[in-house]
Amino acid sequence: MTNTDQLAFIHRFVPASSPSPGVTLLLLHGTGGNEQDLLTLGQELLPGAALLSPRGRILENGMPRFFRRLAEGVFDLEDLKLQTEELARFVRAASEKYQLQASKIVAVGYSNGANIAASVMLTYPDVLAGAVLFRPMVPFTPAAPPDLRNVPVLLGAGRRDSIVVPEQTLALAEILKTAGARVSLHWHEGGHELGRDDITAAKDWMHVEARE
Ligand code: MLT
Repeated sequence: MTNTDQLAFIHRFVPASSPSPGVTLLLLHGTGGNEQDLLTLGQELLPGAALLSPRGRILENGMPRFFRRLAEGVFDLEDLKLQTEELARFVRAASEKYQLQASKIVAVGYSNGANIAASVMLTYPDVLAGAVLFRPMVPFTPAAPPDLRNVPVLLGAGRRDSIVVPEQTLALAEILKTAGARVSLHWHEGGHELGRDDITAAKDWMHVEARE
């Protein structure tokens, strides 16, 4: 069932299949996706984990996104700030409603979803316990580094990605490292689309970083 309830994002919530509340994966789709897109991936990455999957509230020619852009790779920073705040608020409200452990929410974002996850980390460093960011860019450059000490982040970049050039992912890695995050990088030999190797790398990362 897709919910809106009191929460500001249309979303899917899949409760954990283990009785003790552990890690929740916050699934953030790419441009043109929706709340259904990453559920299977989430189940594969961390079987039994609760899944919280919102749909981006911005429409670009009918395609859902998490924030507006002015052109490919050029972000509307005012809207990014607003949507980042909205998403952080949604995560907090959903944690209460679904009785999630707020300190164990790990984002899994693809492309535009990875960018909003990075923006949440850089703006509200206490909201996410970690993140897997597939094909991310620098959402914005923070004026001062937030405190992300020891927060684990996996960045998955495509060596031949023409939408997100590898330099963008490397620049984000530097920003996160400066903030104290423990950054791992996975290089996929192809482009923007996810490969099996991306998923394997994320599963391995989850096994180490997101244990119950
Ligand atoms: C974006 O956030 O615009 C991404 O980097 C590219 C995309 O989602 O297509």
